[in-house]
Amino acid sequence: MHNRIKERALLKRKLSAGVNIQMPAPRRIGKTWTAGKLADDLRKEDWAVVELDVEGMRTIEEFARKLAKKIEGQSKLKDRFLAHVSTRLDNLLGGNWGTNPIDALSNIDPVEFLETLIEALNDNSFPTVIIIDEIAYFILALAEQDQTSAHGFSYKLRGIQQQFKNVRWLLTGSIGLDTIARRYDLEGAFVDFEKFVLEPFTKGEARSFLLDEKIQELFNHKFTASEKVLDQMFDELGWLAPYYLKLIANEIRPSINNSDNGPDEATREDFEAAFDKLLQPSRKSDFAVWREHVRKNLTKSDSDLAMQLLHKLCEQTSGETIETLLASLSKPNRRSIKDTLDILVTDGLLVKNSGRFAFRSGLVRRYWQEYEA
Ligand SMILES: Nc1ncnc2c1ncn2[C@@H]1O[C@H](COP(=O)(O)OP(=O)(O)O)[C@@H](O)[C@H]1O
Ligand SMILES: [Mg+2]
Repeated sequence: MHNRIKERALLKRKLSAGVNIQMPAPRRIGKTWTAGKLADDLRKEDWAVVELDVEGMRTIEEFARKLAKKIEGQSKLKDRFLAHVSTRLDNLLGGNWGTNPIDALSNIDPVEFLETLIEALNDNSFPTVIIIDEIAYFILALAEQDQTSAHGFSYKLRGIQQQFKNVRWLLTGSIGLDTIARRYDLEGAFVDFEKFVLEPFTKGEARSFLLDEKIQELFNHKFTASEKVLDQMFDELGWLAPYYLKLIANEIRPSINNSDNGPDEATREDFEAAFDKLLQPSRKSDFAVWREHVRKNLTKSDSDLAMQLLHKLCEQTSGETIETLLASLSKPNRRSIKDTLDILVTDGLLVKNSGRFAFRSGLVRRYWQEYEA
């Protein structure tokens, strides 16, 4: 139930039909995990899959080089790829490029090299999907250095996508590609990617995940728990991402002894104790991804505003109305407050319930109150 079967089937169906996809979701929801499983599913059906994690990359050349390496590393793709790229390089450089096409990269425009790579993949009798993990960080890094090169790359990607239909794309991002694209005038480049938001687990999936035998092997103490106790914990946690579920479960010391051979049972108090442990100063870094998310996803002035709003909102579980928030700021601007709140809701940090904005996760709220405010 927690293996993202439905999501994987949907992604496969869309990609098979020729739809390219961007899959945004905050960190630690399971994008990389899901994309990896999808890759296995597709390989079983004779697709070629090239997975590239681009977080931390800073240049188009590095992108093209790593992609080439990944392609070259797959026996299914290697021979045709090398033959194709060699011919293309002969045409471009008059044959004087040495023996390893990847080395020739330094002699040509990396954007052009990229096109050659994809053209080679497109020639195969089977479809290929290129999975680019954390693309928005890469686009952001390019744009921060040089907007022209971010523009060149993004629109080349669009051109490649339209021209070589036998190569499909799945992009993931912990920060919104939309937000980055809007900030740097690149929106037109990503219009052909259909958005598929990977949601946190439902309660049913979260239960299935936590009580799964293989997952339980990872915990300090194996445990069982009633549906009621788990649901209460899920309500408090609010944000059912596998990462946080694991973090909590790892701290559980079940207090009800089980007389059979099965694992001991955890109570509501055991979960509360686990929450308290996670909020110790030594565990701060487990939550720092949220601060990073706010900082990277928003411009400087918006992220300053977001911080002010979050400081106010972490004070109580029930959150605040926009009117109260406006009244609490020294220079209130309704439009920018609304936009910023909307981004935080989209990203999952906040929820909006009958006109009130509140932290979605009780655990993250308590962290914020303790260490950020
Ligand atoms: N459906 C799942 N079943 C089991 N483990 C999962 C599942 N989804 C994610 N995980 C685990 O949760 C953690 C966070 O997932 P990850 O894919 O790295 O998140 P993201 O890429 O969105 O930041 C990883 O340790 C991953 O192995
Ligand atoms: Mg990831």
